[in-house]
Amino acid sequence: MTYEQCECEVRQRLSEKRFYHSQCVAEEAVRLAVLYGADPEKARLAGLLHDILKDTPAEEQLKILQGFGIMMNDTELANQKLWHAISGAAFLEFGLGIRDRELLSAVRCHTSGRKNMTLLEKVLFVADYISADRDYPGVEELRAVARESLEEAIIEGVAFTVQELMSRREPVASASIDAYNDAVAVLKEKEK
Ligand SMILES: [Fe+2]
Ligand SMILES: [Fe+2]
Repeated sequence: MTYEQCECEVRQRLSEKRFYHSQCVAEEAVRLAVLYGADPEKARLAGLLHDILKDTPAEEQLKILQGFGIMMNDTELANQKLWHAISGAAFLEFGLGIRDRELLSAVRCHTSGRKNMTLLEKVLFVADYISADRDYPGVEELRAVARESLEEAIIEGVAFTVQELMSRREPVASASIDAYNDAVAVLKEKEK
């Protein structure tokens, strides 16, 4: 599939606002990829595709997952915000025939993060927090942090999300804590 064909698939499934967000994440992912040495074109495509099922109703996402025989674990099931990442990756693979494992896993973990994230996964995870369309309080600071260190940005991002979730008494994915712990370990290693 060409980039333009992927863009078409994304555009028809998302609201205008979400499509714009996807384009912004694609651009930000390219910037981070160039800065940190990931593949910029793969990062652009991952950014474009990452939210492909975000506007698809939850029941439909569940059906897609069931249809492809994908099981979610208990925390994933309890946290509906994670569904679009998991169903999105499944849809890209089995629905659109995208076979790039690295890209698929970056989409799959873009919301929660995970243990042992690859460079591309980190790039997409952080790009989603700081894309040009984001305007939450503190985003400028996080953009500045992301220019200095992907790990610091992951820590800040996870801290922000976990606080938000806890304040609303929503479940926190253990994968997010894994991503945080990994980033802390990388920083500690660098300090040595
Ligand atoms: Fe997302
Ligand atoms: Fe997103």
